[in-house]
Amino acid sequence: MFGGHIETESRGAWVYTSEGRGFLNCGGYGVLLMGARHPTVVRYVSEQLHRHPVATRVFLEPQAALAADALVAVAPPGLERVHFAGSGAEAVECAIKMARTQDKRHLVATVDGYHGKTMGALSLTGRDVFRDPFGPLLPDVDHVAYGDATALEEVLARHPGECCVVVEPVQGEAGVVVPPDGYLTRVQELCRSHGAFFVLDEVQTGLGRLGAWWGADRERITPDALLVGKGLSGGIVPVSAVVATPAAFAVFDRDPYLHTSTFSGAPLAMAAAQGALAAIHEDGLVERARVLGDELLASLGEIARGHYGDGLREVRGRGLLLGFEFVRPGAAGDLLIELVEQGVIANHSLNSDHVLRLTPPAVLSRSETDFLYEAFDRACGRQASAYSLSSEGGDGHA
Ligand SMILES: Cc1ncc(COP(=O)(O)O)c(C=O)c1O
Repeated sequence: MFGGHIETESRGAWVYTSEGRGFLNCGGYGVLLMGARHPTVVRYVSEQLHRHPVATRVFLEPQAALAADALVAVAPPGLERVHFAGSGAEAVECAIKMARTQDKRHLVATVDGYHGKTMGALSLTGRDVFRDPFGPLLPDVDHVAYGDATALEEVLARHPGECCVVVEPVQGEAGVVVPPDGYLTRVQELCRSHGAFFVLDEVQTGLGRLGAWWGADRERITPDALLVGKGLSGGIVPVSAVVATPAAFAVFDRDPYLHTSTFSGAPLAMAAAQGALAAIHEDGLVERARVLGDELLASLGEIARGHYGDGLREVRGRGLLLGFEFVRPGAAGDLLIELVEQGVIANHSLNSDHVLRLTPPAVLSRSETDFLYEAFDRACGRQASAYSLSSEGGDGHA
């Protein structure tokens, strides 16, 4: 896609092409907090692969229970029941169904929020360009401004006892939008007082990405259901999960066949999840994400501001979820292409044309961090000067 490279291999923070060139992977859509092929995950997965990758579902099989235990051990208190799936979107679908078992059928999500592209998840995703080709989507969905508790309250007051509210702790695909302090606490209070089912979508933010196990931890909240994905795969096998309160899970406990999928909870995937959680513990990745994130935010922010000046609207983030918002719409995409030239992979943002996102692994060494600074400096320098050249030609600098 970019520069005609063909990727054939990955290790740690690096992706290698067929020609043997290495790229520092600060993209990967947030999957690779532990880098690629972390030895602990590889060990868990390969042992399971050579022992028993898929279960009969006729007998008890321990891997799903072990993975669920490991996940519950780090989840916010009160979240004790787990349903495993493959993708983040599937976790969203499961949460929507869970809410419906409690008669919460009116969905409330946020403008520019992202929850995936299956039909239910897409109904929550807040960007028309992805939704319009596929309508009609689920009925009874409201999108409220993110970070605006009053807007949420107005919808909840119109539909007392009927709502399922789905929010991200930090909006990832919207371009790393960090809500005001206390927002999540207020969302939880409003959900409780208006009888709404509260789903916190931590598919992108969870498992240490924000420098805490969960975005929920920062405000010490416990939603009815918390969604996990991306890094739970250990970057190897697709795994996602809904971690819920016993009350939220009750109908599924009574009838486990109500919501099933052939590969959900397969032993191989469950080994990957256990390996990923073990790797996060062993390598202290949550704390490393916090410390490294603070450093990268400050240093990369300074580099970008130095080159773009007023063309850079804001640099923001939490932990290792970093966003660079440009005034000019194409600037984020141009910088992404230039970064590839300089040996760094970044992310665009699905629901914002203005924001370049970096989701680096927490395992970066000093020399890798220095490589990132130098490449970022060169890329920003080349792009920013290209803009000022084009503005001299009348094309308009950001
Ligand atoms: C917050 C959030 N929820 C859900 C999803 C969907 O996950 P998947 O792409 O695995 O279906 C994403 C993907 O980026 C996400 O960021």
